[in-house]
This record gives sequence, C-alpha cells and structure tokens, in this order.
Amino acid sequence: MFKILKKEYLADNIILMDIEAPKVAKSCYPGQFVIVKTDEKGERIPLTICDYDREAGSVTIVFQTLGSSTQKMAAYNEGDSFRDFSGPLGCKSELCTESREELQKKKILFVAGGVGTAPVYPQVKWMKENGYDVDCVIGARNKDLIILEDAMKEYAKNVYVATDDGSYGFKGNVNDKIKDLVQNEGKEYNLVIAIGPVIMMKFVSLLTKELGIPTIVSMNPIMVDGTGMCGACRLTVGGEVKFACVDGPEFDGHLVNFDESIKRQQMYKSEEGRAILKQRE
Ligand code: NAD
Ligand code: FES
Repeated sequence: MFKILKKEYLADNIILMDIEAPKVAKSCYPGQFVIVKTDEKGERIPLTICDYDREAGSVTIVFQTLGSSTQKMAAYNEGDSFRDFSGPLGCKSELCTESREELQKKKILFVAGGVGTAPVYPQVKWMKENGYDVDCVIGARNKDLIILEDAMKEYAKNVYVATDDGSYGFKGNVNDKIKDLVQNEGKEYNLVIAIGPVIMMKFVSLLTKELGIPTIVSMNPIMVDGTGMCGACRLTVGGEVKFACVDGPEFDGHLVNFDESIKRQQMYKSEEGRAILKQRE
C-alpha cells in the first residue's frame, strides 16, 4: 500500500499528491512515469513524475480530474493509501543521460501547457541543480489554471506565463509566446522541450520545425501494462511503430504522427463517459 502524505489543490480540478514510495523515489528520474491503481479493481492510471525526494522516500504526482478513475483518485485524502504505485517506468529524459559537454551547448526553452507543467518541473529543476540555466513558458487557458509558477521560478532563469484569455501574463497560447520570444525579443534556443496536451505538442512542433529548433515532446497515450506487452500505447514516430511506455515517453516532436495519436486518444472517449455515468449511479 502507498500512503498519501500530502494532498493539495493546485487549481479547481488539478491535484498534487506526495506519495510514500521509497523504492520508486530512490531510482526515478525526470521524464519517467508511474502507474497508479486506487484499489484492486481500479483502472491503471499512468502519471508522469512531477518531483521526488530520495531521502524522504516520496514521489509527487499531479493529476487532473478528467474521467471516472481520476475522480475516484481525487476522493482519496492524506493518510489514505493507493493499492499500487508501479514505477519508475519509461526512459529517463535524454537530458539526464547526456554528457556535460553536450549539455553546455544547449540553450533550452521548456514549453509547459496546462497540467503538462507538472512533468516539465522536474526537468527544469534537474537542469538547475546540475548547473544549467533554462527558460520556461507556462501556458494555460486562464489565470486560475496556471500551476507551479512559483516552484518553476526557483529553478528556471526566466519563466514566461501566457494565458489564452490574457487574464494573466502574455495574452496568447504557448506558440504565440514562443514566436514573441524568438522573433520580437531575439531569444536564441537550440532545443525546445514541450509537454502538454497532444494538440499543443503538435502545433509547437510544427512551429519549431519552421524555426529550425529541434524539439522533444512527452507523449501520454492510453496505457495498460506500461511494460511494452499490450500495445495500447503505440504511436508512429518517423514511420516506425513505437511504444510510449518503453521507447518513450519522450520522442522527437518533428517525427511524431500526432494526428494518429489524437485519433487513438478519442477512441476511448465514449467508454469513459459510460464509466462516469456508472460511477454516479
Ligand atoms: P489546455 O487544453 O488547457 O491547454 C494548455 C495550454 O496549451 C493552452 O493554454 C495553450 O497555451 C496550449 N495549447 C493548447 N492547444 C494549443 C494549440 N492548438 N496550439 C498552441 N497551443 C495550444 O490543457 P490542459 O487541459 O491542462 O491539458 C490537459 C491535457 O494535457 C490532457 O489531455 C492530458 O492528457 C494532457 N497532459 C499531457 C501530459 C504529457 O505528459 N504530455 C501531462 C499532463 C497532461
Ligand atoms: Fe502496454 Fe505500452 S502500455 S505496451
């Protein structure tokens, strides 16, 4: 059993939880994910790790209450325990495996969209703790949905906030802000790491392709086993079939077939709707 040490609402339906999971905390890295199961019959929910404390033996996750399973997760409180907390799964971020010589050459812009800000955070933190400055754009629909801004400011050199409705920071989506930084402010980047909704990662990748900036995205398709056995998380990258759970979740954004991933994500929408109705009965 995996105890919830802390529960905090970051926004209306976005929750942060610290989970007691010493083995995962000891071996995880930015970029990796866990699969959470509330109880024996619960759905397996993949969540990218937001933070970890090796000494305290805790791992931080952030999730949005979207479907019936995340609503069930949200009903758990501090002191309650989840049945399973499997991980760390997937590959660690490329940044954690590159040589100092390679990292020194990088001028990185992280692009965080909505709840995708949570998996960006450990990468920004890791870069700072290893001596590298990075910039970060955080985009959300409105001010109330901006998460982890202060935490990000502790580790990023510059944090640029953009809201679609202009209620806070720059008015526009993350792509508008990237264009503003590169074209108006003369900022130079040679790597973009974008994490957020698939549609955002698609359009960021289209823009950075035009701008000639290599781009990494983190894909979060439907997953079942998380170990490369079931094929649920397959996607196409550069014409080849890949499994996000073992080959990713990070991939070259200029090679991912986003349209196919969006179609696959939508396949389960009606199933999810039925599950929510059943839960309310
Ligand atoms: P959202 O729809 O509110 O979008 C967040 C921001 O992304 C927007 O404010 C905008 O700046 C940008 N954006 C969205 N669509 C865009 C477009 N077409 N062009 C340019 N920019 C665009 O995001 P949300 O509701 O917080 O996100 C929920 C989704 O994020 C879920 O589908 C979830 O699965 C996904 N998610 C992905 C990861 C990951 O690892 N990739 C992690 C957490 C959540
Ligand atoms: Fe089953 Fe990736 S989740 S192969």
